[in-house]
Amino acid sequence: MSKVITVAQQKGGAGKTTVAAHIAVALSQKGNRVAVIDIDPQGSLTHWHKIREERFGEGYTGLTFASVSGWRVGGEVTRLRRSCDYVIIDSPPHTETEARTAIRSADIIVIPVQPSPTDLWATKATLELAKNEKIPVRVVMNRVAANSRLAQTIAAELPEMSQTTLGNRVLFAAALMEGRCATELDPSSVAAQEIKALVKEITALIDDPVEEEEVEDEVSASKKSAKKSTKEMVGA
Ligand SMILES: Nc1ncnc2c1ncn2[C@@H]1O[C@H](COP(=O)(O)OP(=O)(O)OP(=O)(O)O)[C@@H](O)[C@H]1O
Ligand SMILES: [Mg+2]
Repeated sequence: MSKVITVAQQKGGAGKTTVAAHIAVALSQKGNRVAVIDIDPQGSLTHWHKIREERFGEGYTGLTFASVSGWRVGGEVTRLRRSCDYVIIDSPPHTETEARTAIRSADIIVIPVQPSPTDLWATKATLELAKNEKIPVRVVMNRVAANSRLAQTIAAELPEMSQTTLGNRVLFAAALMEGRCATELDPSSVAAQEIKALVKEITALIDDPVEEEEVEDEVSASKKSAKKSTKEMVGA
């Protein structure tokens, strides 16, 4: 079943668009059908996707793209859920109507937080919304400088911290400038490794476990076919 990952944070500039684009591309590179929805009127993700289309060609970006606002957000999420494995939503820096819809539609909410007191304080509103809707959350520390004491202090103040942190790396910004992502521009970079780890962590939380019955069916089917092939050998 398809999953919706909403990247939200009412604080501006925390890294929502950067994280949303990187999660989307990493999932697409793994062979998933991925849609991205830009519900921010600033249209940063839309700009990025336009550059991506110029580079790779329309229809060849590896992503289904939509830009919607207002009351249309819910319907668009439902529509894209039908045709995609993952729908990634980049939200605006507030928690008004469409941002709330994006939060309500999510299977998980990813909240980027920079190691600053203002990011910390702003995060609490998004956390509260997620809690009210009973939706799982991962808070991701973003733009972390090496050995940042402040990042550790802020992480200690927040619940649901991701095990993965994203460093303050030029590649994240440089890749977006080209309509690409770090995992495409330099797959062996630290930035790319960080994103892959984050995606692994998030998908492990939301992907459906393989049903036990299904596993049993597969086991009994393989036993039956083994028996059959033995019989065939004996009979031969
Ligand atoms: N890990 C990072 N390393 C270096 N630069 C980063 C990182 N994350 C984000 N940035 C830069 O920080 C700035 C803000 O990032 P971004 O636009 O993704 O934030 P945002 O939360 O989407 O902002 P807004 O609230 O305006 O939508 C951008 O210039 C981006 O390139
Ligand atoms: Mg943004």
